[in-house]
Amino acid sequence: MPRYLITSALPYANGPIHFGHVAGAYLPADVYVRYLKMAKGPENVLYVCGTDEHGVAITLKAEQAGVGYREYVDGWHKEIRGLFDQFGIEFDTFSGTSRCEYHAEASRKFFSVLLEREFVFEKTERQWFSEQSGRFLPDRYLQGGCPQCDFETARGDECPNCGSWIDARELKNPISLIDGSTPILKPTKHWYLDLPKLQEAGLDDWYRGNDPQNPVHAWKPNVDGHVQAMLRDLHERPITRDLPWGVDLPDGLEDSDGKVLYVWFDAPIGYISATMEWAAAKGEPEAWRDWWQNDDTHLVHFIGKDNIAFHVVVFPSMLLGQQEAWGGKPFVLPWAVPANEFYNLQGRKFNTSSGWYLDNASFFEQYNADAARFHVLMSAPETADSEFSWTEFQVTNNNLLADKVGNLASRSLKFLDKRFDGVVPELSAEALANEAVQAVLNHESLRETDRAFDAMAGFIENFEFRKAAQHFIAGCSSLNQFFDAMEPWKKIKGDEQDLACCAATLERCVAYLELLSRRIAPFCPTTAKKIRAMLGEAAAADAATAWGAEDANTPPLTAPAGAKIDAVEVLFSKVDDDQIAAEITKLEASAAVSD
Ligand code: 2FM
Ligand code: ZN
Repeated sequence: MPRYLITSALPYANGPIHFGHVAGAYLPADVYVRYLKMAKGPENVLYVCGTDEHGVAITLKAEQAGVGYREYVDGWHKEIRGLFDQFGIEFDTFSGTSRCEYHAEASRKFFSVLLEREFVFEKTERQWFSEQSGRFLPDRYLQGGCPQCDFETARGDECPNCGSWIDARELKNPISLIDGSTPILKPTKHWYLDLPKLQEAGLDDWYRGNDPQNPVHAWKPNVDGHVQAMLRDLHERPITRDLPWGVDLPDGLEDSDGKVLYVWFDAPIGYISATMEWAAAKGEPEAWRDWWQNDDTHLVHFIGKDNIAFHVVVFPSMLLGQQEAWGGKPFVLPWAVPANEFYNLQGRKFNTSSGWYLDNASFFEQYNADAARFHVLMSAPETADSEFSWTEFQVTNNNLLADKVGNLASRSLKFLDKRFDGVVPELSAEALANEAVQAVLNHESLRETDRAFDAMAGFIENFEFRKAAQHFIAGCSSLNQFFDAMEPWKKIKGDEQDLACCAATLERCVAYLELLSRRIAPFCPTTAKKIRAMLGEAAAADAATAWGAEDANTPPLTAPAGAKIDAVEVLFSKVDDDQIAAEITKLEASAAVSD
């Protein structure tokens, strides 16, 4: 049985995470992990993440804020952990690349092995240097004229006007953003990852599914398009930088003073070092190998589309270049990289600094976090960019979750409470022999629910979370149709046969609500718990964690006769039109203030 090692892109410790990030790389992973733990057993699943705490984006922002790097990343690390909690995203371990005690050493070892095996080489090139500050300037520390369009304030790495990628050395009249001086070009040595050589050494074979040790799940079209183009024209990439913050290079390298590993070299190693930390914390320091050096592992990276190259080309190359240097065993290569496109907000990109964002704190004070999760998944950018729209959120909350899920639970359980004293009715042998009762138990709407709920696992395992959520709702719609068609409120007033049909209807409702609580659990974990609490004795505690495939080996679904249900509560409150209009006005006003 495969074991699943799941990662979500390490978020930079330099700003809050918002709905856009969550929709891309975290929520789908969390749903996948919750499903896998139910379906395959929690011991076969490990979900690893942490903050990405190095790199120019961080040094630049910390310097601009006048805060030390350590203090800066510590603050964001803490903040980001809290934000994940609000979304109900639960990692097995959450570390950070500058705080994990195994990280720097592991990163240096990766580098040394690659150097030793000649997958890394050195080269001296000219780079901008500030004589005033006495340091080399990474691309983002530079501003100047765009060599393509002459826009005067282009960044050293890209032009905001024409969007082209810039070779910083070609900037016209550059200035240093840290001190305003005019930099000079000065030679400096850097180390390069020889990607073309690694491509030959196994990257191509693995990517194309020709490596028997490392099978791959079918690539998503958005990933494949991007990677095929890259593999046709792969170049070496510098993996060191002149920066005062990051992982130092291994000792003994000439001219390495003041240089650190490039953030994109050390960050993905963060997945491994976080696993080492997790293993050490549970007193089994070697246990990380059971995940990273185990043929049975399915390694799955959840990321946004901007990270595809690093997870499908660069990191796998780094892994395969380690060969057997780590205790005689190779690392596993990724099995799947379900990269998502971008998630926008009401037609524009999420942008905290320009006021175009959802304030997490105010959102979760007013709205149900499970409704947010479900809506974000229903609208996730799985195949194309998509967006959060307030009115669509209202539809998901009101028409799907409140009307189809909450209402089903509340009307059936309230009916049971009122008419059956909250006790699951027993269906006598005589009742079961009755054709009308059999027609209730085998009603076509229930079969439709079976089909819809059964299809969910396949969609989740294929990273099609939108379809899984849609099938969940379809299954709930059929259950509502069943309840309506059975008219238990009429049957309760009828003859003996009607009463038996009414009892059978309620028995089915309880049995299916119990199943529904497990089907909704990966998407809406809090709601799942609430439904089970409402079901009381009718929802056995040990079944809560089992997905329970409804196949030939699974006994037919039954509700335990005589079990007493608990108090019924509202699962999803409706959001009204005024509230939605006020949210849209607030968003537009906050963006206008920042303009
Ligand atoms: O794009 C980002 O937010 C990066 N910090 C992702 C890093 S993923 C991994 F490799 F660590
Ligand atoms: Zn330009």
